[in-house]
Amino acid sequence: MTHLLSALDAQNNVWSILKEAKEFKEGNSSKKPLKNKSLAMVFEKASTRTRMSFEVGMYQLGGQPLYLSASDLQLGRGEIIEDTARAMSRYVDGVMIRAHKHEDVLQFARYSDVPVINGLTNLEHPCQAFTDIFTINERKNTLDLQMTFLGDGNNVCNSLLLAAAMVGMDVTVACPSSYEPDSIILKDAQKVARKTGSVLKIISDVQDAVAGADVIYTDVWVSMGDELEESQRLNDLRDYQVNQDLLNLAHPDAIVLHCLPAVRDQEITEEVLNGPQSAVWDQAENRLHVQKAIMNWLMG
Ligand code: CP
Ligand code: NVA
Repeated sequence: MTHLLSALDAQNNVWSILKEAKEFKEGNSSKKPLKNKSLAMVFEKASTRTRMSFEVGMYQLGGQPLYLSASDLQLGRGEIIEDTARAMSRYVDGVMIRAHKHEDVLQFARYSDVPVINGLTNLEHPCQAFTDIFTINERKNTLDLQMTFLGDGNNVCNSLLLAAAMVGMDVTVACPSSYEPDSIILKDAQKVARKTGSVLKIISDVQDAVAGADVIYTDVWVSMGDELEESQRLNDLRDYQVNQDLLNLAHPDAIVLHCLPAVRDQEITEEVLNGPQSAVWDQAENRLHVQKAIMNWLMG
């Protein structure tokens, strides 16, 4: 059974996902490869883009999405993951899960007879990462580029490192110490990078990281689940804001990405978010096209 739990799981499929997403975006909408198929979407946390892109995407592919809030399932009353996975597999053709703990999604996949898609955990956000690579390629027409990720080396950053390494893109992460990406993921990404020639660096200096960058990426400083650490995080990360002064140090044609939701005047300013170099709204749209390609890969 093939699942998408980590971005690494798509190592052999990344190019076909990007190609098919482009076909979907260009309007090959008569294709209904998931006719009569169903996707369960389990959410333990809030979502706008992930929910909408999977839900609308499933309809567009001819299938049926089921939105399931984890707190409304028996899971929320203590039914164990193993039993939930076994039962759900009898009704649907795939399960997308947004969970607090990455380990819970791995556990679900162990007992699932249908493909499981990670819709964000504390550790990874693979569907976002492939959308980001797609968006960069769409804007730049090449992936032979230098991307700089600023701020919290979180779930989004982890999956981005893996996905960028797979397509040969260089990535520099600039973050304060103790906000580095996951060390095991970084090791895996380095292994992939050695094969593709991509260069991955983790540094703390913002100016050095941004100099000459083709893509500037940031994400919130307080992720879902990190709320108790808010004041500490805002203090630790304040030098890592993506603002116009910083953007001026990057390549003049650099684009700015943010997975969204954004918090203005924390990790990014309004001026940059809605400025001429921002690609964030295309990036948000592209979740739809890329999710369709991912669902078709796993469930088609
Ligand atoms: N980027 C992203 O996953 O957005 P949502 O939290 O709105 O799904
Ligand atoms: N890092 C953020 C991403 C939201 C899409 C979070 O986990 O809340």
